[in-house]
Amino acid sequence: MDSTVAHLKEKLGSDKVVLGLSGGVDSSVAAFLLHKAIGSQLHCIFVNNGLLRKNEFEQVLEQYQGLGLNVKGVDASARFLKALEGESDPEKKRKIIGRVFIEVFDDEANLIEDVNWLAQGTIYPDVIESVSATGGPSATIKSHHNVGGLPDFMKLKVVEPLKLLFKDEVRRVGKSMGMSPEILGRHPFPGPGLGIRILGDITAEKVRILQEVDAIFINGLKEWGLYDKIWQAGAMLLPVNSVGVMGDERTYEKCVALRAVESTDGMTADWVDLPHDFLQKTSNDIINKVKGVNRVVYDISSKPPATIEWE
Ligand code: XMP
Repeated sequence: MDSTVAHLKEKLGSDKVVLGLSGGVDSSVAAFLLHKAIGSQLHCIFVNNGLLRKNEFEQVLEQYQGLGLNVKGVDASARFLKALEGESDPEKKRKIIGRVFIEVFDDEANLIEDVNWLAQGTIYPDVIESVSATGGPSATIKSHHNVGGLPDFMKLKVVEPLKLLFKDEVRRVGKSMGMSPEILGRHPFPGPGLGIRILGDITAEKVRILQEVDAIFINGLKEWGLYDKIWQAGAMLLPVNSVGVMGDERTYEKCVALRAVESTDGMTADWVDLPHDFLQKTSNDIINKVKGVNRVVYDISSKPPATIEWE
């Protein structure tokens, strides 16, 4: 680790570096390594796309700032939601989220004077996947940004300190730098966030409902000591209403699906047999506390063929 820091120090000298933080393990460890090497020459940008978990933007920002990182939070929620209005196709939603992210990031990176480098938390499996699928990460960015040429930050030199590491090695590097288990043990979370867990079109109200449901599920997993035994967990808001009864009233409200999987790399996954009393309590909590939801189901499908995300 010390030799990596020394190498980065020598490579970057007194140059400025910009990095997009996602709150995930990879970009966090990359940021800490670079921070060790070049301190405040590292400028981190954390964009709120409005599709993060409940309170995640504020909590993650506070956590990073508390650790001395030079990080700017940009709340672009309204811009993302506006761009997504009325769109229900999963791939189109991904493209819109990717495009708006690039626009927001580019605007922010341009505010930093004399920046020379773009840092990325790319890890080895990302390199393999993107080479075989799309011809490299820049191809993905380019396909998102097909009007008006390349964004300015794409003209920067690229530094990827984790490029040769697998996920467990990234976690080990983070641990050796004294990063908290809370950051290092975080479940993977997709870039498009809740945008691909709200099936169909996205509205602010649907985001609010799903954030509440997700928070009850994830906090419950933590309280019951189950979180660290699971690769990834989350909730999906389904595009169906179903009938329920509440006192003498008939309701016609939303259904949510909970999913928790075990995996080593996300390529294959098995559903987790969560304790029934946990599922029972979580379901009751969700239905009692989240207005607009009257039914909870648990996903018992493994991958393949059922992908981890529903979209
Ligand atoms: P699937 O749903 O393909 O997911 O079984 C495998 C892993 O990839 C994550 N995932 C994404 N991550 N952008 C991302 O950054 C995406 O569009 C995306 N789609 C899926 C998923 O959360 C799981 O960890």
